[in-house]
Amino acid sequence: MNKFISFEGMDGAGKSTHLNWFAEQLKARGHEVIVTREPGGTPLGEQLREILLHQKMSMDTEALLMFAARAEHIAQVIKPALQAGKWVISDRYTDASFAYQGAGRGMDWQKLQQLEQWVHADLQPDLTLFFDVPVQVARQRLSNNVMLDKFEQEQGDFFERVRSGYHRRVKEQPQRYAVIDAAQSLAQVTAQLVSLIAKI
Ligand code: TYD
Repeated sequence: MNKFISFEGMDGAGKSTHLNWFAEQLKARGHEVIVTREPGGTPLGEQLREILLHQKMSMDTEALLMFAARAEHIAQVIKPALQAGKWVISDRYTDASFAYQGAGRGMDWQKLQQLEQWVHADLQPDLTLFFDVPVQVARQRLSNNVMLDKFEQEQGDFFERVRSGYHRRVKEQPQRYAVIDAAQSLAQVTAQLVSLIAKI
C-alpha cells in the first residue's frame, strides 16, 4: 500500500540529503514516488515560499500563509498522488508549523490545532521521519551556507524552542514518528534509514 511520508527536523539537521536517497530506495523497489516540499510544492505554494522565507511578517500571517500553501499542496498534489497509488514524500508538513510558528514564534498551540483540523483533519502522514540533532550541531552545519533565509538567520534559542516543539509533537502522537539520531555521521544515519525501509 502506498504511503504519505513527511521529513522533519530543524535547519541543518540534514534531512534533505537523506530524503533524496530515501526516495531513490523506494523507486528502486518499484514504487511510484513523488517528492515534494513545504512551503511550496505547487506554483502558488512556491510563490508563497519566496515570501515566507524572505519577508518579515506577523506571527499570525506567517502561520496562515503556511497553511494556505499547505491547503493548495494537499488539493493539487498530495491527495491526487495518493489516490493514484503513488507514494508521497514531503520535505516538511504540519509538524513544522507547530515547531516553528508554535514553539519557535510562540503561537498558541490550540490555534495551530484548529488550523490543522480545518486544512487536513483527514490527512496525516502515515509516517514522519524526524531528524533530531542538538542545536549546536545543526548551527555548525548551517555555517557553511553562504545564503541564509529568514528562518535560518534566527538565533540559537529560537532553534532550542523549535526542537522542543518537535519533541512535543512526537510525544503527542508517538506512533506516527521515527526519530532519527541525525547527530551521527552520514553513513550511520543512512544505516538507520536502511533498517527503517526494511520495516515499511
Ligand atoms: P527548508 O525546508 O529548511 O528548506 P531548505 O532546506 O531549502 O532550506 O526551509 C523551509 C523553512 O520554512 C524552514 O526554515 C522551516 C520553515 N517552515 C515553517 O516555519 N513552518 C512550516 O509550516 C513549514 C512547512 C516550514
